[in-house]
Amino acid sequence: MLSTLKGIKSDIPPIWLMRQAGRYLPEYLATRAKAGSFLDLCYTPELAAEVTLQPIRRFGFDASILFSDILVVPHALGQDLTFAENHGPVLGPLPENIVFDATNFHKKLGPVYETIERIQEGLQTEGFHQTALIGFSGAPWTLACYMVDRKGSKDFAATRMMALKNRDKFTILIDLLVEAISAYLIKQIQHGAEIVQIFDSWAGVLPPSEFFKWVIEPTTRIVQNIRVSYPHIPVIGFPKGAGVLYQDYAKSTGVTAIGIDTQMPPAWVREHLQPFVIVQGNLDPFTLASGAPQLLKDVDTIISNFKDKPFIFNLGHGIDKSTPPDHVERLIAHIRRNHL
Ligand code: CP3
Repeated sequence: MLSTLKGIKSDIPPIWLMRQAGRYLPEYLATRAKAGSFLDLCYTPELAAEVTLQPIRRFGFDASILFSDILVVPHALGQDLTFAENHGPVLGPLPENIVFDATNFHKKLGPVYETIERIQEGLQTEGFHQTALIGFSGAPWTLACYMVDRKGSKDFAATRMMALKNRDKFTILIDLLVEAISAYLIKQIQHGAEIVQIFDSWAGVLPPSEFFKWVIEPTTRIVQNIRVSYPHIPVIGFPKGAGVLYQDYAKSTGVTAIGIDTQMPPAWVREHLQPFVIVQGNLDPFTLASGAPQLLKDVDTIISNFKDKPFIFNLGHGIDKSTPPDHVERLIAHIRRNHL
C-alpha cells in the first residue's frame, strides 16, 4: 500500500475496502454489542482498535483504517450527536459562535488518538508488519452538510442555501473546519497514522462554481497544512459524486491519490485521472454484496483498465451490511490469484 502510494507499481494491487470493519462481520456485531452504542464503540480505544483489526485478521487486507466516524469532529467542536438505531446520525443545533479551541478539541478526541496507537501496537504484535494504517477525517464541505442539515439528506438543501445566501457566515464555518481538520489529521499522523483519507461524501451535490469554492479550495488548504510538517505522508481524497470535476480535484488539491466512486467508468478514469494521480476504487458495493456473475467481470474490468499504473483496489463506496463475508474472501482470492 505504501509503495503504491509512492508511485511504485506492483503486480497485485493493494486491497482494502471502505467500511471494512462493520455490520457485515459477526465479530463486529459482537464487539459493538459489548460497547453499547456505536458512539461508545468509537470512543473506547480498546474496542475500536479491536474492530479495526478484525477484518485484517480475517482477510489480510493491505491496509487497516482507523475505526471511528467522520462526525466525531462536529461532536468535538461542541455539537450534540446521536446515532439512533438504524436511523443514521442526528446532530443538535449548530452552536452559535462556534470556535476552534485546540486544547479542548484534542482532549475530546483523545480516545481516537489512543485507538491509533493501539491499532499500531496490534498490527505489530500480531505480525501484520506490512499492513498500513489509514487515518481519516470528513472534508469541510461534507462535515458542514451534517452540521447545518443536522442529519442525512438527499440534497443537503439547508447547507447549500446557507452557502449561497449567507456566504460570510458559511465561509467562517468552512475556515474553522479547515483549521480543525488539519489539526486533527496532523495529530493522527503523530500518533501513528501512515496515510490519511479525506471523505467528501457529498461533494457531488454542488454545481461547478460551488465545488471549487467549498470542495477544492478548502481541501487544498488542508493538504498544504499537512505537507508543511509531513510532506511524505500520502493523502487520499474521496470527492464522491464529483463526476468530470474529479479531474479538477486531482489537478488542484495536491492529493497523492483519489478515491473513485462507483459511477465513474474505469476507461474514463484511466484516460482522464491516471495521468495525474494514483487512483483507488471502484467496485460497486452491491455488486460485491450480490455475488452475481457480474462481480468478477467488473473486477476484471477495473483491473485491466488501471493495471498499467500504480493503483489501489477498493469499493466505490462503503461495503453494505448485507455482504456475505464469503464474497469478500472470493474477491480477494480472485484478485491475488489472477495476478500472481
Ligand atoms: O471505513 C471504515 O471501516 C472506517 C470507519 C468509518 C465509519 N464511518 C464507520 C461507521 C468511516 C471512515 C466512516 C465515514 C463516514 N461516516 C462517512 C463518509 C463515508 C461515506 O460513507 O460516505 C459518512 C458520511 C459518515 C456518517 C455516518 N456514519 C452515517 C451516515 C452513518 C449511518 C449509515 C449506516 O451505514 O448506518 C454512520 C454510521 C457508521 N459509521 C457505521 C459504521 C461501521 C454503522 C454503525 C453501526 O454499527 O450501526
